[in-house]
Amino acid sequence: RILDPQDGPLRGKRVVITAGPTREPIDPVRYISNHSSGKMGYALAAAARDAGADVVLVSGPVSIPVPAGVELRSVVTADDMLRESMAAVDDGSDVFIATAAVADYRPETCAGDKIKKTREALSLDLVKNPDTLATVAARPDAPFTVGFAAETNDVARYALDKMVRKKLDMIVANDVSTPGMGFNSDNNAVTVFWPDGREHIGPDTKQNIATRLVALISHHLETDS
Ligand code: CTP
Ligand code: CA
Repeated sequence: RILDPQDGPLRGKRVVITAGPTREPIDPVRYISNHSSGKMGYALAAAARDAGADVVLVSGPVSIPVPAGVELRSVVTADDMLRESMAAVDDGSDVFIATAAVADYRPETCAGDKIKKTREALSLDLVKNPDTLATVAARPDAPFTVGFAAETNDVARYALDKMVRKKLDMIVANDVSTPGMGFNSDNNAVTVFWPDGREHIGPDTKQNIATRLVALISHHLETDS
């Protein structure tokens, strides 16, 4: 653990991290969302801060405290997440880490009034949301870009496919089929992939995994530049 951030490997670096779920409105009182707690992203924000970075956390609604010294930009929908993330990267960023569980789809329209329980069945038309991580990675000035992949099966294959397809520098895969790991838990076990290597981390606390991930990212930043 680095005690003085002034001596940390990310001193002078700007790190943007997405975290938490998004909420996609159905009507004025309802939304589609998921169980993301934000814990992994918030743990990474603290670890990057401890490594000396200036950290911006673009976060959906969560119920955990923002780490001291980290700048919070609150968002609700996937559209907000894209806009705020691009704005944060516009301000200059060296590393972009996407831990957010962005809703893949949103209702095509949000009803103006509360939907009444008058029908026996109800269908919602959903449309695909923009992909924040892929959009940031496609920028000509893309920072070092790290994605997360929560999978229940064929973890390595799906994660590597995402890294290539979204043009990422690194992807962190977690097997969410293991009870007590990943979503909503304080613990996690991950495999990190980069174009010519991999490393398994955990099972361990999300904070310890975050510290190791930040060390790995710092090392790759040094060797890439
Ligand atoms: N991600 C994102 N914006 C989205 C969807 C995903 O930024 N609209 C990011 C996540 O934060 C994560 C990575 O992309 O870092 C992979 O997310 P994941 O849900 O595993 O992959 P998808 O591309 O959405 O594919 P699928 O859900 O079908 O597996
Ligand atoms: Ca998804």
